[in-house]
Amino acid sequence: MTIEFAPYSSGDADALADFLTGNDWPFHAGTQDAETVRRRAENGLYWNDESRTFWVLAGGERAGLVRLQDLADDTPMFDLRIRADRRGQGLGTAAVAWLTSYLFTEFAHITRIEATTRQDNHAMRAALRSNGYAKEAHYREAWPTPDGTPYDSIGYAVLRRDWISGTVTLPDWHDEPATRSS
Ligand SMILES: CC(C)(COP(=O)(O)OP(=O)(O)OC[C@H]1O[C@@H](n2cnc3c(N)ncnc32)[C@H](O)[C@@H]1OP(=O)(O)O)[C@@H](O)C(=O)NCCC(=O)NCCS
Repeated sequence: MTIEFAPYSSGDADALADFLTGNDWPFHAGTQDAETVRRRAENGLYWNDESRTFWVLAGGERAGLVRLQDLADDTPMFDLRIRADRRGQGLGTAAVAWLTSYLFTEFAHITRIEATTRQDNHAMRAALRSNGYAKEAHYREAWPTPDGTPYDSIGYAVLRRDWISGTVTLPDWHDEPATRSS
C-alpha cells in the first residue's frame, strides 16, 4: 500500500467536512458540524501562515488528515486523525514519521515538536514512541471528558538534534535536590 501526503486545497472543504463529521473521534473534545467545518475552511483555518493541512492518502484514498499548527513558533504541534476503518494499519505511525521529517526539513527555526495525548490513547502513544518522541510530561486528571471522567494527559516531544542523530534523549527525572536527613 502506498502512503502519500497531499496538501489540503481550497476545493477540499466538502471532503474535509465529510471526513471530520463522518468518523468518531473518541480522543477529541466535541465534533463540529459540517457547516462550521466549511466556514472555518473558507476562513483559511487549514492553510495559513501558522497552519498547514495534509491528507493522508493510502492507496490513493483519503484515509487521514494531518494538521500542523503553531508553525511560527520554534515548537509546533499537530493534530493527526486516521479514518475509523483505516486505524491500526500503520498509517498513524507513517504519518508521524512523515510530519516530523517535513517540519524539521521545511522550517529551519523549529527545534522541537510537541504532542499531547490522552493516557489511554495507546495507538497514538505507540506511534509517537516508535518515531523517537520522548515522554516529557504526565499531567494527572488534566483531561476532562463530557461524562466527567478525568483522564491523565501525556506530553511527548522530539528534539531536532535527536531526530538528526537518530537518538532519544530522555529528560532528567532525577533532578530534585536530595532530601535532607535531620
Ligand atoms: C491515534 C491514531 C492516529 C494512530 O494511528 P493508527 O494508524 O491507528 O496507528 P498504527 O496502526 O500506526 O499503530 C500504532 C501502534 O499502536 C498500536 N495500536 C493500534 N491500535 C491500537 C489500539 N486500539 N490499542 C492499542 N494499541 C494499538 C499498533 O499495534 C502500533 O503499535 P507498534 O508501534 O508497537 O507496532 C489513530 O488511531 C487515530 O486517528 N485515532 C483517532 C484520532 C486520534 O486519537 N488522534 C490522536 C489525537 S492526540
